[in-house]
This record gives sequence, C-alpha cells and structure tokens, in this order.
Amino acid sequence: MYRIETRMRKPFVAGNWKMYKTVAEARQLVSELVPGLQGIAGVEKVLCPPFIDLLAVAALLEGTDIGLGAQNLFWETSGAYTGEVSPKMVAELCRYVIIGHSERRSYFGETDETVNRRVKAAFAHGLVPIVCVGETLDEYEAEKTAEVVSRQIRDGLAGIDGLQEAGAGALMVVAYEPVWAIGTGRPSTPEGAASVIRDVIRSTLAELFGVETAQAVRVLYGGSVNGKNAAEFFAEPELDGALVGGASLKVADFTQIVQSAAR
Ligand code: PGA
Repeated sequence: MYRIETRMRKPFVAGNWKMYKTVAEARQLVSELVPGLQGIAGVEKVLCPPFIDLLAVAALLEGTDIGLGAQNLFWETSGAYTGEVSPKMVAELCRYVIIGHSERRSYFGETDETVNRRVKAAFAHGLVPIVCVGETLDEYEAEKTAEVVSRQIRDGLAGIDGLQEAGAGALMVVAYEPVWAIGTGRPSTPEGAASVIRDVIRSTLAELFGVETAQAVRVLYGGSVNGKNAAEFFAEPELDGALVGGASLKVADFTQIVQSAAR
C-alpha cells in the first residue's frame, strides 16, 4: 500500500541558480539545456533563475515541458515595498517558487514566521511552493535535526488550510537541505536523507494534514547533488527528486540528474 502511494508521486527536479547568470548568460544556458531536458518524460523539471532573468527565460521555455520558478517572493500583493517582488508578479511568469532557502534564512533574516507568510501568499496566488528546511552543522552535531526540521515544518506551514482538499498536497513541494551539505561537495547519505524525510518530514506532515496528504507531498533532497550521485539518492523511495544548486548550472550534470529521476 505504502509503496504504491510512494510511486504515485511524480519525480521532481528543480535547479536553483542562486545569484548566477545575467540575462544574456541565462539565455545561453537555457538554450543549451532545453534540447536535452525536453526529451525526458516522467519527471517535473523546473528552472529557478534570478528574478531579473525570469522574463527572458519564460519566453525561451514557452511551449516546452520545463517549468519556471522564482527563488523568493514577498507576501504583499502590491504596495510601497522598495526592492520587493510580489506573489502576483511572480505568478504572472512562474508556476513555482522556492521559499525559505537556508541562504535566505542565514543572510537575509528569513524565519519560520516569514516562511509561513510567504507560503500562504504563494498558495493564494496559485503558485507551487518549494519549501526548504534543514539543520545547520551545529544542530546536526548536537543531534537536533529532528527537533529543528519538525519545527520548521510546523511553523512554516502553520494555519495553512485546504491542503487536504482538491489534492493540493500534491502541489506542495518540500526540500530537505541539510545546511552542512549545501555547496560543500559533502552530501548527506541517501539513507540519512531518507530517514529524515520519512521519520521527521512526512510524519510531521501527517500530523498536520493527515496521512493521505503527507503521502502526496513531494519531498526533495538538496545539498551537493550532482550527475554522479543523483541515482543513489533517487533509489530511495522516500526521495521524490532534488533541489540542485551548483550542478544546475552545468548542462551535462543537470541533464544527468533529471534523467536519473525519471522513473
Ligand atoms: P548545491 O545547493 O547543490 O550547490 O549544494 C543546493 C541548494 O542550495 O539548493
């Protein structure tokens, strides 16, 4: 029973470009990525370039089966918020949005409370949130992973109604990204990531939204995933794909990762 439900979740791979690629560079990278990615069926593929690249990349992805995501959004729909980008603006171009990435948490003051506001705004505008959680190295060494990640899920998703309805659970994506594994070339083990996903993330989601919804949510692993190690991660049935940073800027690597995720 459990296995069957696991397999019903469509694999998902998103590339988080972070603060890389000017518009011209983004056009170049997308034109190199599309031919290889287009042919790969059975996996939801998403590119998340910087805000300033979104319009150009949206035009290049039109008519392809590759989705577009932003790396952040503000929760207000419009107003005097200099420098911010509203969910309405994001939703005009994108279907997905990364929320609560650890770099936003550590450098830009993102908290579980602001994650929560952003997630609600994303849902309100029909966006699919990719909600990032994960413990720091200190927390990992202090064996606080379960405590930290379950709090991030609980507080980040507090007061979200309707996730159980209309299969909306299937529209939420959670990315488990241990901070110590991001950009370090030292990924978690597939078993380690799978156990946090099963015992902490899905069990907390089940408490909050019920087992059925918890089973529908795609949960990704992120942190030093590359073309070589991706298949080992995806062999774990608990893992539904990856949020990829550095390797998403390399055509061969990212294509290989997407290929490994296709079931
Ligand atoms: P990485 O980054 O793949 O470069 O480790 C992952 C992420 O930050 O989402």
